[in-house]
Amino acid sequence: MDSTRFEPDSAGAAAASAVRDEYYNDRVVLQFAVATVVWGVVGMLVGVIIAAQLYWPTMTDGISWLSYGRLRPLHTNAVIFAFGGSALMATSLHVVQRTCHVRLISDRLAAFVFWGWQAVIVAAVVTLPLGMTQGKEYAELEWPIDILITAVWVSYAVLFFGTIAKRRIRHIYVANWFYGAFIIAVALLHIVNNISIPVGLAKSYPVYSGAVDAMVQWWYGHNAVGFFLTAGFLGMMYYYVPKQAGRPIYSYRLSIVHFWALIAVYMWAGPHHLHYTALPDWVQSVGMVFSLILLAPSWGGAINGIMTLSGVWHKLRTDPVLKFLIVAISFYMIATFEGPMMSIKTVNSLSHYTDWTVGHVHAGALGWVAMISIGAIYSMLPRVLGLANMYSVRWMDLHFWVHTLGVVLYIVAMWIAGVMQGLMWRATNDDGMLTYSFVESLNVTYPYYFVRLLGGVLVVAGMVLMAANVWKTFAMAAGNGPVRNPVLAPAADPA
Ligand code: HEM
Ligand code: HEM
Repeated sequence: MDSTRFEPDSAGAAAASAVRDEYYNDRVVLQFAVATVVWGVVGMLVGVIIAAQLYWPTMTDGISWLSYGRLRPLHTNAVIFAFGGSALMATSLHVVQRTCHVRLISDRLAAFVFWGWQAVIVAAVVTLPLGMTQGKEYAELEWPIDILITAVWVSYAVLFFGTIAKRRIRHIYVANWFYGAFIIAVALLHIVNNISIPVGLAKSYPVYSGAVDAMVQWWYGHNAVGFFLTAGFLGMMYYYVPKQAGRPIYSYRLSIVHFWALIAVYMWAGPHHLHYTALPDWVQSVGMVFSLILLAPSWGGAINGIMTLSGVWHKLRTDPVLKFLIVAISFYMIATFEGPMMSIKTVNSLSHYTDWTVGHVHAGALGWVAMISIGAIYSMLPRVLGLANMYSVRWMDLHFWVHTLGVVLYIVAMWIAGVMQGLMWRATNDDGMLTYSFVESLNVTYPYYFVRLLGGVLVVAGMVLMAANVWKTFAMAAGNGPVRNPVLAPAADPA
């Protein structure tokens, strides 16, 4: 452990006193926390529906807006941008205030960010089932919505960085660096990948074409993973793990190395999505090499998070919030080991197009992203509401086990299905003919699709339990009157 110790904030420390007449803006934090739970239930429910459609392909035949092709992007947008985005906004706006010891710079801007983001989500929920799409994965939304996203995102950036500029403490805690990188990178990715020429209100064409279009799209796609689904959530890890464990981060120095290494490497790894395509071969190799290098900062950061528990491992036995946070980091390690392996061209020739990719995605999405978000909300909500804990610790524990079992069922089923598909597709007889037809590979996949569906149902059941717990927790806090948490003066500037 190094000597550079830094507490995420001095809340609760004896030396910290309240700043006179200044209160944190927790309204927007609570709004986004509730939105996280609501969109989590909705987005994952849509995931369950499309998982069911893959098992019963004729389930919604004849209803165009319920067809798989329209619901799949609805699922990805809802879980990534509505659920994940709300969790990131809730926690970043909570963390930035607590670690900078200052209220957000503007209440009106905060309200605009919340309602603007909800408007984007509602627009997605309406347009995607209607079949309006740019046809770019994770960037399906059409240009008018893209412009709204830009306006909301710029406001979010002003709110976040403006609050940092106004801080009462010289040091900028590492969680804010990760959130800050996420905000800047996503702005850049969104604008560059969505430059297109409108031909109507609901249709546009990208300015890029051919291999360049594919490269820009997967530069975007991969960095959406790197910055939307990773960097921001690492910000969460660096605040809520030490906070919940009651320990400073294991090595603050390592966290700084982690930050710079991660953001320097991620940007170059995108071509691993385009192996064996028309992209120049050397570009594919650059993508592969940078993906392999990415293992080091990813695991370094994860170990930093997990080792924060040294000395208090016993808390894992009784605290379901810590269980969520630590198991999330373990899934992060699984996904960031698997990703570099899949980026090796020869491995990718087996995994690409198969359900192995889908298993990898959900190890990251359900294991890492969802679990760290759930843990962070469970950790933050009672604190902000002035309560000792959530309404029911037993429900949180049950949620943890149901979710974990669901994720394991999901990803193990997809790993087996994926490797099996890859091997069947490449098997040839002595005469050079394919051993199996595509339909044969599909038939043997069905049982695994059923197991995935079961896993999904468990995950959604856990989310519904969370929603009930959050509801009851708000009801418990209602007796305490309006939420007014005084801004704490920094006890000392450790920077
Ligand atoms: C109950 C939970 C969930 C279920 C049942 C579920 C189910 C599914 C299904 C069936 C697919 C389509 C796979 C295919 O096309 O073959 C999918 C795709 C996807 N899901 Fe989920 N999902 C869940 C949660 C999540 C969460 C929480 C996230 C992100 C935070 C997420 C992110 C994605 C992404 C990014 C894809 C696209 C994968 C790709 O293109 O390879 N999912 N999901
Ligand atoms: C060191 C880190 C990682 C590396 C090097 C990596 C690498 C890869 C590779 C090689 C693929 C397959 C590309 C293909 O064959 O089409 C992939 C797909 C994917 N990964 Fe990762 N991965 C990493 C971490 C993660 C994490 C933590 C998440 C989620 C939180 C994630 C989400 C995804 C998604 C959503 C896709 C599917 C993209 C699509 O085709 O739609 N990855 N990743």
